[in-house]
Amino acid sequence: MTLTGKRVLLIISGGIAAFKALELIRLLRKQGAGVTCVLTDNGAQFVTPLSLQALSESKVYAELFSLTDESEMGHIQLSRAADLLVVAPATANILAKMANGLADDLASTVLLATDKPVLVAPAMNVRMWLHPATQANMATLTGRGVQVVGPDEGAMACNEFGPGRLAEPPEILAAIESLLSPASRPLSGRHAIVTSGPTHEPIDPVRYIANRSSGRQGHAIAAALAALGARVTLVSGPVNVPDPAGVSVRHVETAAQMLDACQTALPADIAVFAAAVADWRMDQAATGKIKKQPGAAPPSLHLVPNPDILATIAAAGPHRPRLVVGFAAETDDLLDNAQSKLRRKNADWIVANDVSPATGIMGGADNAVHIISADGIDHWPLLAKDEVAKRLAARIAAALA
Ligand code: C5P
Repeated sequence: MTLTGKRVLLIISGGIAAFKALELIRLLRKQGAGVTCVLTDNGAQFVTPLSLQALSESKVYAELFSLTDESEMGHIQLSRAADLLVVAPATANILAKMANGLADDLASTVLLATDKPVLVAPAMNVRMWLHPATQANMATLTGRGVQVVGPDEGAMACNEFGPGRLAEPPEILAAIESLLSPASRPLSGRHAIVTSGPTHEPIDPVRYIANRSSGRQGHAIAAALAALGARVTLVSGPVNVPDPAGVSVRHVETAAQMLDACQTALPADIAVFAAAVADWRMDQAATGKIKKQPGAAPPSLHLVPNPDILATIAAAGPHRPRLVVGFAAETDDLLDNAQSKLRRKNADWIVANDVSPATGIMGGADNAVHIISADGIDHWPLLAKDEVAKRLAARIAAALA
């Protein structure tokens, strides 16, 4: 029995494939998992609460405003009591609600209120799956750390062929086992601090110094560490990417605030400094908007260096995290610069990447990195930033094992 003692909250939304949820419950129970079902109104068109209750041997929840259910177990508690939330089948509608934070029934409210890992098994018509709206919603959800199984490709109930079929119950079970097995969460019990994004250093109340960092790589690293079981504090500068799920996020603007948030978050086992921190800030930001004066010379800005967050946290001392990872984004002499950064900042590893404009890496979706440590250099191929994050998280887990 691979899932003894584990609790799965199974959310069944309305699709022809909802009948397969019955088989999934049977497989989960066979592996020792406790299963509690939440059924949407549309889901109830396809399976009955009675059959779910009989197979799960637990009360089935369906209504948001049920007085008896709320008095026994509130909707917040319902999600907190589970180790994993599984949405199977997940219709285009519930995925859209999740991506947009809607909470208009029990299932969507539980999904919004949870701090537990979430696995979705999409099932819908092939055109609905391929629609840019659904694909954008999936990108949002996976960016927040939601795990996905399927959909499979094949003949569909609507007489069409293509991707959209619910993954088979044994495939969903395997995904659940891998998410809940201790081997898949090697960083559980560890605390990781990750910085991400640019900083904004005010010049006056309306202007600031910034850079082109999108925060994608840092946010992906935070999500990947959380997926391996770490408790993650993400300290993020101003970005347009969503907060990853299951990660506690501190939003800051300036380098000074970022350092303060990192120091407050200590102690940590792991620290990954992926933020593109501004090297300089105004000595004194103007309190009023600096005015253009006709005929006058442009103002000269007096800059002072920002604190180096990586070097400060990596300095030897009782609170130094066991593994400190810095980044080196360079346009010239990448590896030499990264190696000297490793020593100068007392980091354990430097993730070096070439950010020359021609590479499209800064702000783009892919990254080609080299991992520099005292042991040598690992050259990784061009990978999606999510993939770089997963590999880095796995390398971190191996180093701390
Ligand atoms: O010196 P440089 O900015 O190239 O160093 C890059 C590395 O140092 C990155 O990991 C970055 O997050 C970190 N850094 C920092 N605080 C700064 C400047 C850089 O943490 N003020």
